[in-house]
Amino acid sequence: MKNQRILVAGGTGYIGSHTVVELQEAGYNVVIVDNLSNSNMEVIDGIEKITGVRPDFVQADCTDMPAMEKLFDSYPDIRGVINFAASKAVGESMEKPILYYRNNLNTLMNLLEQMAKHGTKGIVFSSSCTVYGEPDENPVTEAAPIKKATSPYGNTKQISEEIITEVISAGAPFKSVILRYFNPVGAHPSAEIGELPNGVPQNLLPYVTQAAMGIRKELSVFGDDYPTPDGSCIRDYINVVDLAKAHVIAVERMLEDKSDDKVEIFNLGTGNGVSVLELIDTFEKATGVTVPKKIVARRAGDIEKVWANPKHANEVLGWKAATPLADTMRSAWAWQQKLRERGIM
Ligand code: UFG
Repeated sequence: MKNQRILVAGGTGYIGSHTVVELQEAGYNVVIVDNLSNSNMEVIDGIEKITGVRPDFVQADCTDMPAMEKLFDSYPDIRGVINFAASKAVGESMEKPILYYRNNLNTLMNLLEQMAKHGTKGIVFSSSCTVYGEPDENPVTEAAPIKKATSPYGNTKQISEEIITEVISAGAPFKSVILRYFNPVGAHPSAEIGELPNGVPQNLLPYVTQAAMGIRKELSVFGDDYPTPDGSCIRDYINVVDLAKAHVIAVERMLEDKSDDKVEIFNLGTGNGVSVLELIDTFEKATGVTVPKKIVARRAGDIEKVWANPKHANEVLGWKAATPLADTMRSAWAWQQKLRERGIM
């Protein structure tokens, strides 16, 4: 049943590209659609180097309905969709809310409409633990309450989950698996693909590797006065290849009708809470490289602590985040070194 066609929207991005690799390794045919707003064509070369297969690529914006119509018409064999195509910077979303609502919501609605027209079996959707806000208790299960979003970005994830659920309960002829990611980090072990932050990194690990490389003077640790064991915030850092593998399982689950539920939701995390200072320490020990850093004030809007209870995904999907954090840190550093070799950063 493999060698079926999967449309990966946002497939040249960070999580998308790692997922395309895993899909191809599992025998699926992939067509990527991406507008390259936050990625580039070299990612396709990286995917081809790793897998030996060059995925089909269509450069288009998913908010462009005629372009999506054309895409689905020219690939009548699309059986499933994975949607990574979205803007994802929390801070930017505060400044440009319309951009975020338009990009993230119109993309989703266009894909759903085309899927219904073309008989696509299901959609895997990239959601986020941001829907839980500051959780009342950790680790967080899928039953934890959804908290009011604190950014337009976070709100697009909540609304997207609602759109999918409502469209399917209104009778749309497809299924969905909604995946709530915790903090994806690291790169493919080949160092052929990885995270390519645009400008100054907003996320922790890209900043760590850039500070370690000397691209940034020092890492600012946003607060050491939180009520946590070492005073820094706690997250659940999940290896991006482990995360990508969950998508392959989710796709297979939909295409092979393994569940009676039309919409399923899974947390994707390791189940381990790791503080900012612990993450830096793990990076330094794993790579032997020192990260210049200073403690600064808290960052507005930060969650104090959040980590996953991944039991539902472990048991139902038979998936587990397996990569040790030290290996993930080494993969991120190898990728940073590769970017330096190529003269990119
Ligand atoms: N941090 C620093 N210094 C930095 C960057 C981050 O100390 O330069 C700290 C943050 O304060 C936070 C931790 O590192 O405590 C993780 O920060 P990230 O920005 O990497 O990740 P967040 O958990 O804040 O945000 C991520 C995604 C969002 C998503 C959210 C869900 O970036 O898209 O997880 O919780 F919404």
